[in-house]
Amino acid sequence: MADLDDLREGNNFGLDTEVKNQSFYLKGCDNLDWGLKDRLSRIFNKKSGRTVMLAFDHGFIMGPTSGLERIDLNILPLAEHADCLMATRGIIRASVPPTYNKPICLRSDAGTTILTELNDNVVIDVADAVKINASAMAVMLAIGDKQMEAKTIANLTHAVNQGQKYGIPVMGVTAVGKDMARDARYFSLASRVCAENGANVVKTYYCEGFSNVVASCPVPIVIAGGKKLPELDALELCYKAINDGASGVDMGRNVFQSEDPIAMIQAVKGVVHDGLSPAQGFELFNDLKG
Ligand code: 5RP
Repeated sequence: MADLDDLREGNNFGLDTEVKNQSFYLKGCDNLDWGLKDRLSRIFNKKSGRTVMLAFDHGFIMGPTSGLERIDLNILPLAEHADCLMATRGIIRASVPPTYNKPICLRSDAGTTILTELNDNVVIDVADAVKINASAMAVMLAIGDKQMEAKTIANLTHAVNQGQKYGIPVMGVTAVGKDMARDARYFSLASRVCAENGANVVKTYYCEGFSNVVASCPVPIVIAGGKKLPELDALELCYKAINDGASGVDMGRNVFQSEDPIAMIQAVKGVVHDGLSPAQGFELFNDLKG
């Protein structure tokens, strides 16, 4: 029971100062619930409004690919430079120390591998995302894939229903089907479908005309890096995406398969958060290269 002696009346109500209305700094997120905003603000830097997410969820479809043979050796040294870690629950529990306190974007669907047909996936139980203290759940969508489109949209819908209930944002990840053109028309459609179905963030690929993809998507977009490129080209990709309005990157191979992943993630950060040009980013990469 609180001590009730000497109760002091409040007398400093700041009557000269109006209460400011608060607006949220991320596109399309003003009307979200508090928990969703809190989690998004762990992922997206509040000054730049952008994020450098480190994706290392590749193993669940392709096993121990190059650069991901040992998460403890390959990935943990990069973690301090990332704004958010994107991985599966198996890898997070087995290899990422909870004491890192890094925002986690939990890969929340799983299913087929590169050995069969991709994207025949189911969504994990949201309770596990809560237990991992995930800041977001990522779910893949195979838009345009005759076999998997409906199932993966249903997966996203399910994840969004659960995420709304517990305040966990959902990131829709657009997988590009074999027969899909990797152009602005396709990525605009796929990104918009994610947002229309409730994704709070969309992860897609950079393409020519990317500013139209961003403009027609009402929520923040981050780009995947795709297959490994020479470092300067990868930094150019980040630069162009940011310039066209992306809210950051969720990059994997172009970081962990770099000849110097620690230098590369810092160079990517420089481009995404600090406005470095690709050439400046590359100079930083070369300076930091060990
Ligand atoms: C595919 C993913 C990967 O995490 C994504 O493609 C990022 O990796 P990369 O930059 O290597 O393309 O979401 O399931």
